[in-house]
Amino acid sequence: MRIESPRALAAIAEMGVERLAGASLAELTSLGIGGATDVLRVRRHHSLPALIQLLRAEGIEHRFLGGGTNVLIADGELPWVALQLVSPQPDVLIEGRSVWVDAAADLGRMVTTCAKKNLGGMEGLIGVPGTVGGALRMNAGAYGTEIGKFVREVDVYRAAAGVNETLRDGQISFEYRHTSFAPADIMLRARLELPEKPYAEILAGIRVCNEKRRASQPLNQKSAGCIFKNPPGGSAGRMIDGLGLKGFRVGDAMVSERHANFFVNAGRATCADMLGLIAEVRARVHAAHGCELEGEVIVWNA
Ligand code: EPU
Repeated sequence: MRIESPRALAAIAEMGVERLAGASLAELTSLGIGGATDVLRVRRHHSLPALIQLLRAEGIEHRFLGGGTNVLIADGELPWVALQLVSPQPDVLIEGRSVWVDAAADLGRMVTTCAKKNLGGMEGLIGVPGTVGGALRMNAGAYGTEIGKFVREVDVYRAAAGVNETLRDGQISFEYRHTSFAPADIMLRARLELPEKPYAEILAGIRVCNEKRRASQPLNQKSAGCIFKNPPGGSAGRMIDGLGLKGFRVGDAMVSERHANFFVNAGRATCADMLGLIAEVRARVHAAHGCELEGEVIVWNA
């Protein structure tokens, strides 16, 4: 969607919001799939309420894009604009064992910044691509660590009600790849509390996780990480692999040869290719195991 109203364009510029006109979301997502729309890059959190109000008044729908690493987006001209937060610098502030981090900060960089101050615990998250905001929303996890475990408070803009709120410990529930944030909540900043650990020890842990990831995941191919959640007590990757589906494709969407729960864009995959592959694999797993795999990747195809 292109914003055309001169009044809206002037107001957006006045808010200091940068507009990438007709940007290709394929270039802003790790899957390399997604159509075109205006992307509004918000530098100052406090301009969000006015921006969202303006978009509502103009009848322009919007979606919030984080790092674009866990999302599958429709092709063609998209019927909404994408909003993206730009992190201030520095985006990580450390006081004792408390870490204040901006939602737009890169997750991996936050982990290493904390490590240099002898704060650890998050070694498993090192190779998870994306922003801290995205990691908070999905309760990102790997190698026995989930970000939710360290979160003490989160500043959110509750777009549905139009208010800023600080949610503390007991007000947020973090479950396996699921949180209690409302769909319209926009993560702004979080405070984490981390255990003290010597830098060398954290680095050793990071190396182990990097090795495991390199050995088992297709890191040099376009993907959105695992496409399905693991069913309770089971492994989606093992089930798909067991059906001999590695390398199986619909168009250019392909089940990774390295990890069967990673679906990769092996060329010029479309959103329809990827959705077709997801549906086919889900049906085959259901037929073989009677188990309905739940998606892990967010799909914006409507
Ligand atoms: N397996 C196979 N074939 C495959 C893939 C896996 O047999 O093609 C087997 C493995 O040998 C292992 C089991 O399945 O016995 C589990 O595999 P793995 O250790 O790779 O972990 P996973 O359960 O598939 C989860 C997370 C990953 C995270 C890793 C490491 C989910 C859906 N996935 O994968 O997270 O990186 O553990 O902790 O929970 C993501 O969320 O996008 C993601 C990649």
